[in-house]
Amino acid sequence: MQQKWWHGKTAYQIYPKSFCDSNGDGIGDLQGIISKLDYLKELGVDIIWISPIYCSPMADQGYDISNYYNIDPIFGTMDDMDKLLAEAKKREMYIVMDLVVNHCSDEHEWFKKACEDPDGKYGKYFYIEKCKEGEPLPCNWRSYFNGSVWEKLPNYNDRVYLHLFHKKQPDLNWENPELRQEIYKMINWWLDKGLAGFRIDAIVNIKKELPFKNYPADRDDGLCSVDRMLENANGLHDFLAEMARETFNKYDAFTVGEVFNDKPGELPLYIGENGYFSTMFDFDEKLINVSSDGWYAQQPVTPEQYKATVFACQEKVEGNGFISNIIENHDQPRGVSHYIPKSECTETSKKMLGGLNFMLKGLPFIYQGQEIGMENVSYNSIDEVDDISTLGEYKTALAAGLTPEDALSAVMHFSRDNARTPMQWNSNTNAGFTTGKPWLTLNSNYTEINVDEQKKRDNSIWHFYHELINLRRSEEYCETVIYGTTIPYLKEQKNLMAYYRKGKQTLLVIGNYQNQAQQVSLPSKIQKVLINNLDCLHSNENKLLLQGYQFVVIEL
Ligand code: GLC
Ligand code: CA
Repeated sequence: MQQKWWHGKTAYQIYPKSFCDSNGDGIGDLQGIISKLDYLKELGVDIIWISPIYCSPMADQGYDISNYYNIDPIFGTMDDMDKLLAEAKKREMYIVMDLVVNHCSDEHEWFKKACEDPDGKYGKYFYIEKCKEGEPLPCNWRSYFNGSVWEKLPNYNDRVYLHLFHKKQPDLNWENPELRQEIYKMINWWLDKGLAGFRIDAIVNIKKELPFKNYPADRDDGLCSVDRMLENANGLHDFLAEMARETFNKYDAFTVGEVFNDKPGELPLYIGENGYFSTMFDFDEKLINVSSDGWYAQQPVTPEQYKATVFACQEKVEGNGFISNIIENHDQPRGVSHYIPKSECTETSKKMLGGLNFMLKGLPFIYQGQEIGMENVSYNSIDEVDDISTLGEYKTALAAGLTPEDALSAVMHFSRDNARTPMQWNSNTNAGFTTGKPWLTLNSNYTEINVDEQKKRDNSIWHFYHELINLRRSEEYCETVIYGTTIPYLKEQKNLMAYYRKGKQTLLVIGNYQNQAQQVSLPSKIQKVLINNLDCLHSNENKLLLQGYQFVVIEL
């Protein structure tokens, strides 16, 4: 594998609205991020991906962009952005922005002009179809946020426009070469500014199956998941190859794709030596037990499912590229709340999950707050919820006959708000996130779970992540940690997740994925214990007796 500058790095995702507020308006901002660069550096972070900070009406928290060339005033100014780039550079850190080009905002000037003249130049930037009131819509696809993907064009009774996401996120028409050039120009403009690269949002959606057609309904709403159309849409690869050629490749930019549905054999096209992207996220674990009926019908993930899914991905990627590993992001529940049963969610089990993920082959991304083991939030009323996705799923759950209480508790587990509550810096008012009124209610556990407390305590989750990062960076072990092959160990042993990383050395990564102690036989003698989430380790020549949720990395 050709080595790249970013392979040995550690990445960190910032959800800017909730990271750090510098001016007391209750919303995190760029100056807030700048003020925490030293914190991130101390943790060991190199690459920082910031969720969208462009101008936006915030219908989908910035994933609805009204001007790609400016910073939304709630986050600061372009001067602040330039300062952030410069301050990061000083610290040898890299800033990665979100690239949201499947859609823009309905408040973008392109869409406004399209509404004025749907048959003109800008009408062709979108998917606008003729459809009189009362006539059937062009197709029956269901938007990701529920309901039809079609919405009436403002001021026209005989036109509708396509939005795979929220109605305030009209899809851009990638079939139009003029639109594509506009996008490439914008990408290059940012790269010229010194940005290291992009996380590429929802990118598999840019190719639609045309002409629009219905699929058999898969729920009582008469609609059908967009996934059906994506399976049949051909030509995505031409768009992606063109984009890479016209933009990223010229700059050797770092890119990480949000790709959910690669087909067998496609991986090298995405992230191989000449792939469209540097890397992409492994989302396979997120997809475990997903139900086509909606969130309310989704079952909890078992350790066996988790292990099998992770291993399958590692095997798929070996020799085909470099994947990015996560346990959570701004769209998912907190990993510790999702992959560990609530009653067993402790610092020990949180470290085990983090360690199992971090030691995999690939680029580790830490999502803000993961380094202190932030958990899902519990809200008492749907009125406290901000996330549009949760609101849609709540309706779906009610329509399926759940009581309002059951619907709330079912959808809250998956709510995107779980990961979006403000960062917990300390135990002061509002967790030190803001001096004002936070835009989203904090998780009330911040008095116990916060950065200040954990930094002071040597055996905290924060220090555990710090140790993992140091191992990844250490001169002695970095080659094995970065490039060593992942080989499952004792795959059949229940509630045990163990794998080798074989390279310059042979490392064995072992997590006892249950509350009870468990015996594990060893293939050979332990040379050295590199990481341990407890302060004891019971072992002899050929056996380990791991405590509940104990996690170790040993050298053999
Ligand atoms: C991606 C983002 C998500 C957003 C959607 C639409 O999935 O991660 O937050 O809602 O795209 O842009
Ligand atoms: Ca602010």
